[in-house]
Amino acid sequence: MKETKFIKKTVDFSKNLHINLIKKLLVFDEVDSTNSTAKELAQAGAEEGTVVIARIQHHGRGRFDRIWQSPDGGVYLSIILRPRISTKKISLLPFVAALAVVKTIKLYGLHTTIKWPNDTQVNGKKIAGILLETEIKGDSIIYVVVGIGMNLNIDRKHLSPDIQSRSTSMSHELGFPVDYHEFLRTFFVQLEKTYLLFVNHSFEKIINEWKIHTDTLGKTIRVQTSTGMLQGLAFDIDLQGFLLLRTESGEIKKILSGDCLYMKELDHT
Ligand code: BTN
Repeated sequence: MKETKFIKKTVDFSKNLHINLIKKLLVFDEVDSTNSTAKELAQAGAEEGTVVIARIQHHGRGRFDRIWQSPDGGVYLSIILRPRISTKKISLLPFVAALAVVKTIKLYGLHTTIKWPNDTQVNGKKIAGILLETEIKGDSIIYVVVGIGMNLNIDRKHLSPDIQSRSTSMSHELGFPVDYHEFLRTFFVQLEKTYLLFVNHSFEKIINEWKIHTDTLGKTIRVQTSTGMLQGLAFDIDLQGFLLLRTESGEIKKILSGDCLYMKELDHT
């Protein structure tokens, strides 16, 4: 594997977790990107439930080819999933992952919201991000790598000033550091529960739960999509996860993916 040079320790403590979904937990000290490592493993045939975790990432990747700054103290993990489900439903997986993250953070007593589609925020600042990478052949999902970056005990001084102003961390919000292993266990329990809803086709339940935790619906937003910028009232999402936006001219736009900005965030840009 390309990233072998970064491996300082590889521990498999999945046996002690007793969570059915988590089959193998590979813990690295440093990697380029847990998503890249997980993709290589998935391409080499790694089973569903293989998780790659790293203490730090040298080239953490975010959505829209952005850099995900990954200093010590954060949680950087990628899980390989191989759902035997229609490729049409794959658009719901970002919502599954976001729900698992938001429910975990809420268990620590923090008021947490999801910004469409899957950013997690506390007090209007980003605390976690999700990057999904998928390989599909014909009608089959070969694998999905779900990468999650969470600002657990990050000292925000280690983030660049622009990211600092828009981010927060669990330890910053709570005023004390969070136990890393306890947090991981809590997260995996939530992920397993939400993923089971997905593989059992409880799509409406996933969307309804997502709606409970989002603060996007009802807001006027601006969305940068691959084909251009759209602005309007985000009033609903449908069962496939398309965001429904009513523009000023009254047109209804259905958006599957994009970068969402709230108007108050635009005031600061
Ligand atoms: C976003 O842009 O909000 C998504 C950020 C996703 C970052 C995580 S950290 C673990 C995994 N490995 C990566 O390189 N990216 C994801």
